[in-house]
Amino acid sequence: MILVTGGAGFIGSNFILEWLAQLDEAVVNLDKLTYAGNLQNLALLSDNAYHIFVRGDIGDNELVSKLLIQYQPRAVINLAAESHVDRSISGPGAFIHTNIVGTFQLLEAVNTYWQSLHGTQKGDFRFLHVSTDEVYGSLNQHEAAFTEKHRYQPSSPYSASKAGSDHLVNAYHRTHGLPTLITNCSNNYGPYQFPEKLIPLMIVNALSGKSLPIYGDGMQIRDWLHVSDHCTALRRVLEAGKPGETYNIGGRNEKTNIEVVQTICALLQKLHESDKVSDYSKLITFVKDRPGHDRRYAIDARKIECELDWEPTETFESGVRKTIGWYLDNLNWVTDIQTGEYRQWIEQHYGPDIDENITVR
Ligand code: NAD
Ligand code: TYD
Repeated sequence: MILVTGGAGFIGSNFILEWLAQLDEAVVNLDKLTYAGNLQNLALLSDNAYHIFVRGDIGDNELVSKLLIQYQPRAVINLAAESHVDRSISGPGAFIHTNIVGTFQLLEAVNTYWQSLHGTQKGDFRFLHVSTDEVYGSLNQHEAAFTEKHRYQPSSPYSASKAGSDHLVNAYHRTHGLPTLITNCSNNYGPYQFPEKLIPLMIVNALSGKSLPIYGDGMQIRDWLHVSDHCTALRRVLEAGKPGETYNIGGRNEKTNIEVVQTICALLQKLHESDKVSDYSKLITFVKDRPGHDRRYAIDARKIECELDWEPTETFESGVRKTIGWYLDNLNWVTDIQTGEYRQWIEQHYGPDIDENITVR
């Protein structure tokens, strides 16, 4: 039995679906169901007794302690977080609450549980904390990619809160000996990603003939990884990672944002003829830049490749093609997610006039 937190979100639901497709080991899924958590992501598991869903907060020490005693998991995989940079700029409180205070409370409960174990149950236990490459800050065009030794220099309230949680995890290893593992992964994309992040937002907007808003000059670089490759890496780290260590995970897929959006437009042109849009790239719209926008992220994944024999299987083109296919096949999921909260966020963040007033290039 393992305990996964944040398992109704994007990466968490992909992780659980893959886990139960491959293994006969039950998963307790603790998720608060914020705007980003969606049980529809796990609809395929509705009759699966190996998936036990519990609605709750990682910061609820009493609940987490009770679950640990009841289910005696051999590992905890912490994916619960507030995860969107733009929301961390307009509303940072939830990020501090969940990513820092919540992780602290979770560590307290897990450490107490772990200290009570004996023998192989204690020796084999792992706490895997899923983090981001954004804790390392921004690179310029010529700097080498992030290794695990790169200093932490977060720029946004999101990345600062994730950096804080990573430090706490390391402190519980150093101070109490808790067998922790940290992964710092680059930008993910794939099925079930909430359409506030770049790739799903662009796909969903393009399908309804809306503007594709690109911040600033669109020349910022991200290192893209298909979520399924991330999940494989997480299983590998859990299986063979060394307690106390950090592993960077990335796809060697550095792309500028404008390249990403142009790739999506070109693929949609082939995959989805539309009465509304004759040329998807005409929807591209340059908008005001994000404050403190990091210019470039790039991951040096040699440690996980060499020590744990992991490598990604998807290229960017194959992964994006599959992702567009998934969104086209799951338009009901898209419609259901576009709730009042979602529409309110889009209007608050991009402004009511985005589809009327901005120059189309
Ligand atoms: P997400 O926003 O899609 O999902 C987060 C999930 O956590 C949601 O289901 C939400 O309901 C749940 N949650 C939030 N606060 C909670 C709380 N206090 N208690 C319990 N559950 C809570 O995020 P994601 O993209 O799936 O990211 C998962 C993890 O991976 C995060 O820690 C994120 O920092 C990290 N990460 C994400 C990416 C990426 O590109 N998406 C890349 C690297 C690392
Ligand atoms: P995002 O998906 O929010 O991930 P992160 O900020 O964590 O890297 O954004 C990816 C890149 O795309 C980032 O450089 C910001 C940019 N971006 C846009 O240009 N327009 C958008 O509407 C969004 C959401 C992001």
